[in-house]
Amino acid sequence: MTAQIIDGKAIAAALLNSIKTKIDNRIQANKRAPGLAVILVGGDPASSIYVRNKRLACEKVGIVSTAYDLPASTTELELLALIDQLNADNRIDGILIQLPLPAHINDEHVVERVSPTKDVDGFHPYNIGRLAVRQPTLRSCTPFGVIKMLSAMNVNLMGLDAVVVGVSNHVGRPMALELLLAGATVTSCHRHTKDLSKIIKSADLVVAAAGKPGLIKGEWIKPGSIVIDIGINRLADGSLAGDVEFNIAKTRAGFITPVPGGVGPMTVATLMENTLLALEMSEQ
Ligand code: GUN
Repeated sequence: MTAQIIDGKAIAAALLNSIKTKIDNRIQANKRAPGLAVILVGGDPASSIYVRNKRLACEKVGIVSTAYDLPASTTELELLALIDQLNADNRIDGILIQLPLPAHINDEHVVERVSPTKDVDGFHPYNIGRLAVRQPTLRSCTPFGVIKMLSAMNVNLMGLDAVVVGVSNHVGRPMALELLLAGATVTSCHRHTKDLSKIIKSADLVVAAAGKPGLIKGEWIKPGSIVIDIGINRLADGSLAGDVEFNIAKTRAGFITPVPGGVGPMTVATLMENTLLALEMSEQ
């Protein structure tokens, strides 16, 4: 069997088109375009690429993005003061702070300073909590992007045995909550999990979000199952790889995402959608 490769780029492009149409319609109706503040602290090469992609996506759909490229020496207090200013700015609907931040800044202090109504990354504990109690508002971009990708593939998650590998605050945990909301039976795996291979071997859906290349062996994949790889790892030769042994896994899975070109574009498209949603919610 050879898996159907899920084309995240194409699904994200369709989503971006529909967002662009909605924003064009707003402009026709004399309403303003959404505004997104994009903050990058320091010059981490991977973060710089992600931020560039997010700004390009804004341009594509008609979101006004404001760039804050701050030096690595920026203090936590200075960053918190900027967030306060953006929270109070009624032309700014979303605030995106690219993570990770330099080591002297506490990511969680920063995430919690963003108004939950402008938290288009869906990282604020309020928004994670809303998802946990089945009343999602602004939803974490990568997990929600995965759900939208599966929906575009007509995958029904109800009752599936789903395994999420990785329990980070911003990806693994909200991913498990999204799958639970969608009706899957969810197992979360992490570094203390006793027998990862045994759990993966019985899974209908594997979502890999550990950030460890090759952690999920291709031969563990249940024939016909769905494999979603959120890992983006830079290898020594400069190439990108996910957490799953793609070449073997694709001979067993029913559906599989590539890296790159799988989940990554869905994260960016979902950020655009969240920014429009944040504006629409502020008008209600
Ligand atoms: N760093 C890696 N992925 C992300 C993301 O989706 N949002 C933010 N803010 N930082 C990230």
